[in-house]
Amino acid sequence: MPCADHRSRLLRDLRISVTDRCNFRCVYCMPREAFGSDFEFLDRSMLLSYEEIRRLAAVFVGLGVRKIRLTGGEPLVRHGLPSLVRQLAALRGLEDLALTTNGALLAEQAEALCAAGLKRITVSLDSINPTTFRRLSDSKISLDTVLAGIDKAAALGLSPVKVNAVIRRGINESEVEEIARYFHGSGVTLRFIEFMDVGMTNRWVLDDVVTAREILDRVGACFPIEAIEVAEEGRVAERWRFTDGGGEFGIIASVTRPFCGGCTRMRLSPEGQLYTCLFASEGFDLRQMLRGGATDEEIRASIEALWAAREDRYSELRQNGGDSGTRVEMSRIGG
Ligand code: GTP
Ligand code: 5AD
Ligand code: SF4
Ligand code: SF4
Repeated sequence: MPCADHRSRLLRDLRISVTDRCNFRCVYCMPREAFGSDFEFLDRSMLLSYEEIRRLAAVFVGLGVRKIRLTGGEPLVRHGLPSLVRQLAALRGLEDLALTTNGALLAEQAEALCAAGLKRITVSLDSINPTTFRRLSDSKISLDTVLAGIDKAAALGLSPVKVNAVIRRGINESEVEEIARYFHGSGVTLRFIEFMDVGMTNRWVLDDVVTAREILDRVGACFPIEAIEVAEEGRVAERWRFTDGGGEFGIIASVTRPFCGGCTRMRLSPEGQLYTCLFASEGFDLRQMLRGGATDEEIRASIEALWAAREDRYSELRQNGGDSGTRVEMSRIGG
């Protein structure tokens, strides 16, 4: 049975972050100064086990969730992820099971993920220039490794494979055209993302945001494009098409065109905190309930009450100059 929040939004999607670790150190997400070798990541015992995640996911599906997305940190660094995928794929009533990854381990894991029942994949990739890529991801993993992962996922039919490119002022804004050209006609759905003020460590300032309008002007100068007008529940990306047959791309304009009005998402952190907004400062401790012997019915009632009381619309308020204070880090909440 679907449940509605204070603004009549239904609970439809669950984003599950399975780890706070990542093999990249993207400067806007896990800058090395803040996430260095002495950073204390969550201890294994703090993480929800796959069995605990499966149990919670079943409760969420009972509450109306139709789509689950696995995130991180980087989800593929958590050992044995395909076994979680297999358990989630078996949940009756779940219509969509997807994963957002940085692609570093995708080529080696795509087959197992696909066999386990994963339906779709999204790869974060902010540059197709090897030098920029290395600078932005601050890791030893090469661009070619990520591109090979994308190709492998597409060949296995994890489609449409999506690619997320966060565009930042003076960093990769001049590469928008190059990225668009690379994926134009490839069958991959590219999405350009406005840089958001997630977490407390990414030093976000409004001037760093390259707006949807600017991005569309850049793409439109290279290719003929038009908007695809469709109403979709819980929509994040605005859809566009290349009218020359080059396929589709998207724009995620959370800063200049926020989409809180249709936000159907909850987020579960690796240690079992449940958040009603990407920009929340506090979560609700589901791990304590699980490990304290709560029944499924009790857990369900708590989630339902949390959703029913929900008022979140951070991105809309940000537009009016609002601020939520301390915000949970991207690497904990998975975007
Ligand atoms: P699809 O089902 O393929 O549309 O996935 P998605 O776009 O919901 O997920 P993805 O992990 O690819 O996220 C794309 C971008 O949208 C990331 O930058 C996310 O942080 C952002 N995003 C996703 N959900 C929300 C949301 O509820 N609020 C805001 N502000 N940003 C979001
Ligand atoms: N603003 C917008 N998107 C971001 N992502 C990470 N940090 C930010 C940010 N500050 C993206 C990642 C990934 C997705 C889950 O969120 O690139 O594709
Ligand atoms: Fe890792 Fe993704 Fe954060 Fe980059 S944006 S550090 S790949 S979790
Ligand atoms: Fe949903 Fe919060 Fe994002 Fe708005 S800012 S769309 S309420 S997660």
